[in-house]
Amino acid sequence: MSNLNRERVLSVRQWTDTLFSFRTTRDRGFRFASGQFTMIGLEVMGRPLLRAYSMVSPHYDDTLEFLSIIVPEGPLTSRLCRLQVDDEVLVSRKATGTLVHNDVESGRNLFLISTGTGLAPFMSIIRDPDVYERFERIILMHGCRGVAELAYRETIETALPNDEFLGETIRRKLLYYPTVTREDFRNRGRVTELFESGRLHAELKLPAADPRHDRVMLCGSPAMLHDARRYFVAQGYQEGNHSRPGQYVIEKAFVER
Ligand code: A2P
Repeated sequence: MSNLNRERVLSVRQWTDTLFSFRTTRDRGFRFASGQFTMIGLEVMGRPLLRAYSMVSPHYDDTLEFLSIIVPEGPLTSRLCRLQVDDEVLVSRKATGTLVHNDVESGRNLFLISTGTGLAPFMSIIRDPDVYERFERIILMHGCRGVAELAYRETIETALPNDEFLGETIRRKLLYYPTVTREDFRNRGRVTELFESGRLHAELKLPAADPRHDRVMLCGSPAMLHDARRYFVAQGYQEGNHSRPGQYVIEKAFVER
């Protein structure tokens, strides 16, 4: 297991019966770009049992944070959800992924569109000062079934605008749009419908999205990604990659099977 670091759990937070997050120590040699994921897991019967998880924490943080659903019969998450402070977690020494801001061209507005645990990589991205240098506005959409699943809402709404270093930039540039589909809340509806109907732009007083000026990063359930990708491709957005930055990038939120 020489490709794995052993990290210690520092804290655990339960958001709902099926959603939790946890923070661990971070090996000084572990590097990642905002938005990337790594393999993490537990040693089960002498073997590493690993799944892909995006880093929630900013790339410059001393600790690592991860957000997870609980799949009742899932080999890993049914064990991970019992994690306690001081338990050990295995973390790969390498990070990777397609949801990095350098793979989209600089532009006017950057839309980060997520459902469920697809929020995780965007939590890292919205705390990266370099991203704010490249765009006039960053719009974070998070769609869930219920209000309790809108993880990190308080962090985004209250802590980040008051952050000692990034607060001023975040107050000026970050717009957060949480929305739910199966409960009462100030914003209702699917992220795709809100975007495509123009309701999001109207409510946030933004110009209509345009591939010549605006960029999109997508992370969430396969169904949302399928619908969103079809829409953005039809609008003329081209997928970016490391060698050729484009107007959008995409990554599925990792769900245990
Ligand atoms: P809905 O309640 O209408 O299905 P899930 O928990 O199933 O991953 O869903 C998370 C959120 O993503 C829910 O609000 C759900 O809405 C929404 N969603 C599901 N399918 C799509 C889709 N094809 N496009 C956009 N949002 C979707």
